[in-house]
Amino acid sequence: MRLPRHPVVRLAVFGLAGLLVIQLVPVWLLQTNPPVAAEPAWDSPATRALAQRACFDCHSNETVWPWYSKVAPAAWLVTRDVLGGRAQLNFSEWAVHAGHNHADEAGELVTSGEMPLPLYVVMHPQADLTPAERQQLADGLLRTFGGDSD
Ligand code: HEC
Repeated sequence: MRLPRHPVVRLAVFGLAGLLVIQLVPVWLLQTNPPVAAEPAWDSPATRALAQRACFDCHSNETVWPWYSKVAPAAWLVTRDVLGGRAQLNFSEWAVHAGHNHADEAGELVTSGEMPLPLYVVMHPQADLTPAERQQLADGLLRTFGGDSD
């Protein structure tokens, strides 16, 4: 096969080929939803509902894997966030991870706007909490887990 002459066309061909090749990395093998073992003792159903909207995709075993989570390179970012998020805090493995869940910081991170991750909110309008909902979630998380004691 003769390569196209124009450098821009050449770049496009190589770019497309590259995009196809990276799809072969089997990242979907990591995109599992293990069974829900145990949840925390939520202070109220409202707190759980807000956490489900804004946090569960990365901090539970009930992740909704969107279509672009199947397409590299977005797949790699989404998978990294979910596995990294679950490792720090997993609302579905409460008993299993007891003591390893960084939940005492959860309220603070919501108030400061660090969680949910900003890029996630762009892609998930349902997680774009109003200031009032943010406050309600932070308060609920504090009541459920207590504050940072250090
Ligand atoms: C898009 C995925 C995503 C969403 C949504 C998300 N998180 Fe996270 N979260 C992460 C990742 C990734 C980490 C690990 C960050 C790290 O290791 O630096 C993390 C870490 C944390 C930690 C531990 C922080 C620490 O340093 O100990 C807490 C607490 C937390 N998140 C709370 C929340 C809460 C509460 C929500 C919902 C309001 C939420 N997160 C939503 C991905 C997410």
